Amino acid sequence: MPGDAGAVPPRIQLTNLHKEFALGGGEVRRVVDDISFSVRPGEFVSVIGPSGCGKSTMFNIIAGLETPTSGEVAIDGTNAIGERHHTAYMPQKDLLFPWRTIVQNAALGLEVQGMVKKKARATARELFAQFGLKGFEDSYPFELSGGMRQRAALLRTVVQGREILLLDEPFGALDSLTRIEMQNWLQEVWAEHSWTAVLITHDIREAVYLSDRVIVLSARPASVRLNVEVALPRPRELAMTTSAEFAHIEEMLIEVLHEESRKAFEAQKALG
Ligand SMILES: Nc1ncnc2c1ncn2[C@@H]1O[C@H](COP(=O)(O)OP(=O)(O)O)[C@@H](O)[C@H]1O
Ligand SMILES: [Mg+2]
Repeated sequence: MPGDAGAVPPRIQLTNLHKEFALGGGEVRRVVDDISFSVRPGEFVSVIGPSGCGKSTMFNIIAGLETPTSGEVAIDGTNAIGERHHTAYMPQKDLLFPWRTIVQNAALGLEVQGMVKKKARATARELFAQFGLKGFEDSYPFELSGGMRQRAALLRTVVQGREILLLDEPFGALDSLTRIEMQNWLQEVWAEHSWTAVLITHDIREAVYLSDRVIVLSARPASVRLNVEVALPRPRELAMTTSAEFAHIEEMLIEVLHEESRKAFEAQKALG
């Protein structure tokens, strides 16, 4: 029904998602175990979970790079299994090519899609100011700080103009001050572009600070352990991180995450 907000399908809907990898010799490794959750249009959702639990695998499935063993992936209410054109995906180690300038790196995705070089680079250039990279178009990656390189990698990801942003631990390698600056900056550009964003992070504070909702995954095989709303007002400000409400959500997440991390560690130990 037009005007009926309830009729808008989720931007992303995962339903009973499973993923198993064949290890050879008839052995299988179950990595994703019955994951269901949805992400509303314009929502910012963070996913946390023990290392090795299956987060990146789940992202690869949402991005259409892997197919699930069973279950459904729907984008805007339509089956999207194996479809790569819905999402802008920044993989965990998204490195810039050292022999290409920043604008050449940034335009790469568009060129791969078949856009002519000149137009691709002009399109990328338009985003440089907003990404705090104005004046560095013709610099090489080694000339930029860590934070700037991450923004350049993100620029390369978003320049393709997709509405869904998948970010796999984008700030993992940055020092804590740069990280905070990047989080504030990401919050701004996210709001401006009305992206639907899903962020994998191991930083609980980052997850709470940026998100409308935080999902905690279990030890491998990954299932949803917790799905928590973060009802703090926007824009988020650093002062909120010391509020009782922030601390309460953080505590809840830490408890479950530590429990799952312990399980993952014990399972690892049992393997020798
Ligand atoms: N192609 C593959 N074949 C076999 N096992 C895989 C493959 N891809 C990932 N895995 C396994 O799936 C598990 C989860 O990996 P991943 O999704 O990268 O975890 P996370 O991102 O949560 O750290 C790991 O144990 C990894 O070894
Ligand atoms: Mg990963």
